Amino acid sequence: MTERLALVTGGGSGIGAAIARAASRAGYRVAIMDAQADAAAAMARELGNAVALPCDVTDELAVDAALASLGATPDLLVNNAGIVKFGHLVDMSVKDFRRVLEVDLVGVYILSRAVGLMMRARGQGNIVNISSINAITPSLGTNAYAAAKGGLVTMTKLLALELGPHGVRVNSVSPGFVDGGMSTAVFANPRTRDIRTKAVPLRRLGSTEDIAQAVMFLASDAAAYVHGQDLGVDGGLVHSLLSQIPRD
Ligand SMILES: NC(=O)c1ccc[n+]([C@@H]2O[C@H](COP(=O)([O-])OP(=O)(O)OC[C@H]3O[C@@H](n4cnc5c(N)ncnc54)[C@H](O)[C@@H]3O)[C@@H](O)[C@H]2O)c1
Repeated sequence: MTERLALVTGGGSGIGAAIARAASRAGYRVAIMDAQADAAAAMARELGNAVALPCDVTDELAVDAALASLGATPDLLVNNAGIVKFGHLVDMSVKDFRRVLEVDLVGVYILSRAVGLMMRARGQGNIVNISSINAITPSLGTNAYAAAKGGLVTMTKLLALELGPHGVRVNSVSPGFVDGGMSTAVFANPRTRDIRTKAVPLRRLGSTEDIAQAVMFLASDAAAYVHGQDLGVDGGLVHSLLSQIPRD
């Protein structure tokens, strides 16, 4: 069997690093695309059978050059790179709003388009996009991030319609509270950590590995008929709203 190739954006840290490790364990050669060149290189060294692609996902020409350097069509694309800027929508600058949309939505489009065309030509492939619980129930302060993730979930469904007939499956994962990555500072506060842990029906925060396992499930043959879906990986958090309002 020929070796499979997984491309993970934002694979240099946090959830992306966990996904890169899980893909490597599953036997994929892994391409780590990350704007932080050092982090991408360190992850590639750690995995061994991997390549670092230092690249900003919003830079279409750089993405094309990075893909060309691979010399192969990825079997799996995980669009994981993302940024967040906290604050109210009406208080943020248009410049910041645009940047978050650029990375969290347009960047996913740039990768999905470029790799999707390669997969379509080949007649097979798998794309998993990392969204967020904020796409489903936005929390105050997540502004452009929630808007971008909402767009990402809808774009996932549309890509599924377009690419499904060509043998390419497309799904998304919506993590809840994750103890790591961009939320590391949030959960370093013991009070926040306690309040949020108690709000989760499973009574624990998610790990980066929890998210990686869900991605690997969607990428696997066990999910061969799962297509155009958004898989919540949140310990049940998205369903807990009404139960948190006291009855009297
Ligand atoms: N950590 C959480 O609580 C949480 C919850 C829900 C969803 N998510 C999503 O998971 C994904 C990963 O987040 P994380 O928590 O691991 O964050 P992180 O900040 O630890 O990792 C993000 C990675 O993406 C890279 N990156 C950022 N902008 C980039 C760009 N323009 N081009 C290329 N690479 C870029 C960063 O260098 C970094 O390595 C994001 O899409 C995020 O929205 C995270």
